Amino acid sequence: MTYSADSQRYDMMTYHRSGRSGLKLPAISLGLWHNFGGIDTFENGRAMIRRAFDLGITHFDLANNYGPPPGSAETTFGSILKADFSAYRDEMIISTKAGYYMWPGPYGEWGSKKSLVSSLDQSLKRLDLDYVDIYYHHRPDTDTPLEETMAALDLIVRQGKALYVGLSNYSPEQTKEASKILKRLGTPCLIHQPQYSMLTRGPENGLLDVLDEEGIGSIAFSPLHKGILTDRYLNGIAPDSRAAGPSVFLRPEELTEQTLGKVRLLNELAAERGQKLSQMALAWVLRGGRVTSALIGASKVGQIEDAVAALRHPNFSGEELARIDEILK
Ligand SMILES: NC(=O)c1ccc[n+]([C@@H]2O[C@H](COP(=O)([O-])OP(=O)(O)OC[C@H]3O[C@@H](n4cnc5c(N)ncnc54)[C@H](OP(=O)(O)O)[C@@H]3O)[C@@H](O)[C@H]2O)c1
Repeated sequence: MTYSADSQRYDMMTYHRSGRSGLKLPAISLGLWHNFGGIDTFENGRAMIRRAFDLGITHFDLANNYGPPPGSAETTFGSILKADFSAYRDEMIISTKAGYYMWPGPYGEWGSKKSLVSSLDQSLKRLDLDYVDIYYHHRPDTDTPLEETMAALDLIVRQGKALYVGLSNYSPEQTKEASKILKRLGTPCLIHQPQYSMLTRGPENGLLDVLDEEGIGSIAFSPLHKGILTDRYLNGIAPDSRAAGPSVFLRPEELTEQTLGKVRLLNELAAERGQKLSQMALAWVLRGGRVTSALIGASKVGQIEDAVAALRHPNFSGEELARIDEILK
């Protein structure tokens, strides 16, 4: 059926400025790491993208290697764009990345100019787009001079293949140095993509401070800790959950009694707040306005609806925050 976007789509979402840039991002963004690959059901992915856009999610995050097989999430998304979203391209922020292993030989990963330029050309073909909105270096590469990697990002923007650039998984120190180089080149870093959730609080140890100082936005990936910060695993491993599937990034061994004990207590607190745990986890990542966007994944339309509904109850009392810290200790 022909898709026509919901005319109310901008009514329920909040949009935050990314650092000191001109670009606003939705408080909830959708990532296509899982559930959009060649092994997944195309129509389910298509329904999720449609529903997300109807709920005001304007930002969709990809990487060269998302699938499986690697590259297939970009191909799927390109087909969905072509089928449903050609009239809406200017309302969408589409990102992709390079840095992890993608093809054999010395140019298929890490951070050389050769690798970054070639990978983006491949991504644009799979996405069937002329440009992406944000291009990320996916992980730091200490064997390539940072000047070369940043010059590659700057070049790509000057070529019109990306509008903005971002960094992912860089340490506070690496981020600061990269940001200085990018500013000097005239292509300031728009955004940093770190892992951040109630169970992974690394960015609080310096990274968020550097981002504030440098005027860089932040988009927290895996804010539900890949599904653990939801009600998914409270009663065992559901057969349709990520931990039951082929992903090597969430194995049942990660679901220890210690972690599940914390998740149960957090789930009780969320219920007291009148929220699902997944919703409290998203509100927590966005608390205090330091994070520009929470970058979720989803396997079902209803999970995207849950996420957006979390924005109806974003605030925490001091007592609730202290209780969360106590549970996570
Ligand atoms: N830069 C990087 O290095 C990097 C690394 C990882 C991810 N990312 C980005 O971050 C995005 C999100 O990562 P993620 O998928 O790990 O995020 P996440 O939001 O922490 O986890 C998403 C998973 O949680 C479960 N879930 C979501 N909502 C739920 C709900 N309401 N109730 C129950 N379960 C729910 C679903 O798993 P089920 O399948 O079990 O339903 C869903 O696939 C990726 O798509 C990617 O764009 C970036």
